[in-house]
Amino acid sequence: MSSSTYPMTRMRRLRRTAGLRDLVRENSVTADDLIYPMFFEEGIDADTPITAMPGIMRHPESQIARVMDGLSEDGVKAVMLFGVSHNKDATGSDSFSRDGLLARMTRDVKKAAPHMVVMADACFCEYTDHGHCGVVENGDVHNDQTLDNLVAQAIVAADAGADVIAPSGMMDGMVQALRHGLDAAGHTQVPILSYSSKFASTFYGPFREAAGSELKGDRKAYQMDPANGRESMRESLLDEAEGADMLMVKPGMPYMDVLARLRDRTDLPLAVYQVSGEYAMIRFAAQAGALDESSAIHESLVSFKRAGADLILSYFTPEYLRRS
Ligand code: PBG
Repeated sequence: MSSSTYPMTRMRRLRRTAGLRDLVRENSVTADDLIYPMFFEEGIDADTPITAMPGIMRHPESQIARVMDGLSEDGVKAVMLFGVSHNKDATGSDSFSRDGLLARMTRDVKKAAPHMVVMADACFCEYTDHGHCGVVENGDVHNDQTLDNLVAQAIVAADAGADVIAPSGMMDGMVQALRHGLDAAGHTQVPILSYSSKFASTFYGPFREAAGSELKGDRKAYQMDPANGRESMRESLLDEAEGADMLMVKPGMPYMDVLARLRDRTDLPLAVYQVSGEYAMIRFAAQAGALDESSAIHESLVSFKRAGADLILSYFTPEYLRRS
């Protein structure tokens, strides 16, 4: 007989063996959850390593077929495309030109991997000579002029075969403008994944190198203040009301509360972006011997599912799939 001071409920019973733990596990991460963000650069002929993101490359536009074959072999099912432009100007006009990098890259990726879900990041910062996410007027990004260009860019991307348009510039009304513009151009079936709660984060640091951004200042006049949680609900729910098909929280790990709160407020599919700085933290800590890399990657990804994400954008995608 056990004494009444010992526990009746023993949580450890279901943790005793791997088999039991597998049976009661609430979340998992598979290829169906993952989107790989990747960089294609024009005018280069070899992969260029990104020093702030060990293991990640800028791939040559001319080798899209080879790169996509490798990703298909790894089991990657969805990608988010970023172009590294050599044709920058004040408005980022290359991104809404029919023969620009965004159009060519989208067409070539779709041709090389027809079954891959191809998402076009819809923004201007990789294509402007000042690095801001739109048309700058009097030192500020002009919201409504940027919307006009954004619609033109999205139509170019959809015409080139993009399966999803993902606006990331945090302009007011971007989802509504895109929905109307895409519909008017006949793309009524192309969904919008809005970067709806996107914070002005220092964790985008390595991305700026990766994407070759020319930005000197910051994006605090359009991206959200990291201190604001309630505002992030308004931002995302506005995008839902404007017709977004999916919402996103970005970055991921420092914004888990936002993800969990938003999960309770919307039934739309929710994405989370484990950004470049989060990738770098795990990579460099593992390189220093401070963390076991494989389990750190898995724990970070499964925690996003637990917090409420349906989709995860992660630079670890191919590696995670190869290891699992
Ligand atoms: C910009 C964009 C950024 C990222 C994705 N889209 C950079 C920024 O907003 O400054 C960052 C992604 C990352 O850090 O991995 N449209």
